[in-house]
Amino acid sequence: MARRKKIYEGKAKILYEGPEPGTLVQYFKDDATAFNAEKKAVIEGKGVLNNRLSEFFMTGLQSIGVPTHFIKRLNMREQLIRQVEIIPLEVIVRNFAAGSMAKRLGLEEGTPLPRPIIEFSYKDDKLGDPLVPEEYIIAFGWASQQDLDDIVPLALRVNDFLSGVMHGVGIKLVDFKIEIGRIWDNDYQRLVVADEISPDSCRLWDIESGQKLDKDVFRKDLGSLTDAYTEVARRLGVLPSNVTHRPRPTLIN
Ligand SMILES: Nc1ncnc2c1ncn2[C@@H]1O[C@H](COP(=O)(O)OP(=O)(O)OP(=O)(O)O)[C@@H](O)[C@H]1O
Ligand SMILES: [Mg+2]
Repeated sequence: MARRKKIYEGKAKILYEGPEPGTLVQYFKDDATAFNAEKKAVIEGKGVLNNRLSEFFMTGLQSIGVPTHFIKRLNMREQLIRQVEIIPLEVIVRNFAAGSMAKRLGLEEGTPLPRPIIEFSYKDDKLGDPLVPEEYIIAFGWASQQDLDDIVPLALRVNDFLSGVMHGVGIKLVDFKIEIGRIWDNDYQRLVVADEISPDSCRLWDIESGQKLDKDVFRKDLGSLTDAYTEVARRLGVLPSNVTHRPRPTLIN
C-alpha cells in the first residue's frame, strides 16, 4: 500500500503530498542525467548530499531575507517544502563563461564576464529547455514584466550570497540555475526560490586548481561525482549531524 500520494516524479527528485495543505515532501534520488537525459546513471549518495546542500543554501538565503520554499529537512533524503506554482523558466546566472554560453559566443571556458549575466530558458524537456528572450516570456505569459522585475534582483541576491559562501571555502561560482515559484496569499503573490540549489545546478571550480566540483564531472566523465559533491559538503561544514553556516566564535582573552 502506498505510504503517501506521489505528485510528480522528475529526473532527480520525487514530490509527495505533504502533511499539511500547501506543503510537499521533496525526495532526492541518486539518479543523474545530463544532455537532456541522453546520459543517465545512478550515483550512490548523490541524493543525500544534494538534500543536505540544498538545505544549507536555502536556509542560508532565508537568513539574509531571501524567501525560499524550504521549511525543514525531514531525513537523509527528504525535505518539507512549501508547494508553489513553478514559473516555467530556468533562471541562469553566469559570472564566468562556460557551457552553452562559451560555445555560443566562442569564449574560452572560465573567461570572466563584465558583470553577472542573467538568462532565461523555457522549461520544456521535449524542446531541450531553449534559451528565450524576455520578449517571449512576456508575450507568451510565462511571467509578467513585474515578475521579471522581481526575479532579476532576487537572482542577483542569490548570486551574491552563493558566490560569497563558495569563495569563503576556495570555490569559484561560475554559474548556476534556479527555479522561482509563486505563493498566493489570497490575491497577493510572493515569489520564492524553489526546486533545489546543489552542485547539480551550479558550476563550481576549485579556485586554486580549477578542478570541477559539480555535475560537469558526470557530464564530462572527469572522475567520481560523489567525491566532488562530498568535497563541497566537507568544505562548507555540511556534516551529517552538524549543519552550521558560520564558524563558532572563539573567545580570546
Ligand atoms: N516548491 C515546489 N512546489 C512545486 N513544484 C516544485 C517545487 N520545487 C520544485 N518543483 C518542481 O518539482 C520537480 C522536481 O523534480 P526534478 O528536478 O527531478 O524534475 P526534472 O526532471 O528536472 O523536470 P523539470 O524539467 O520539471 O525540472 C520540478 O518539475 C520542479 O520544477
Ligand atoms: Mg529539475
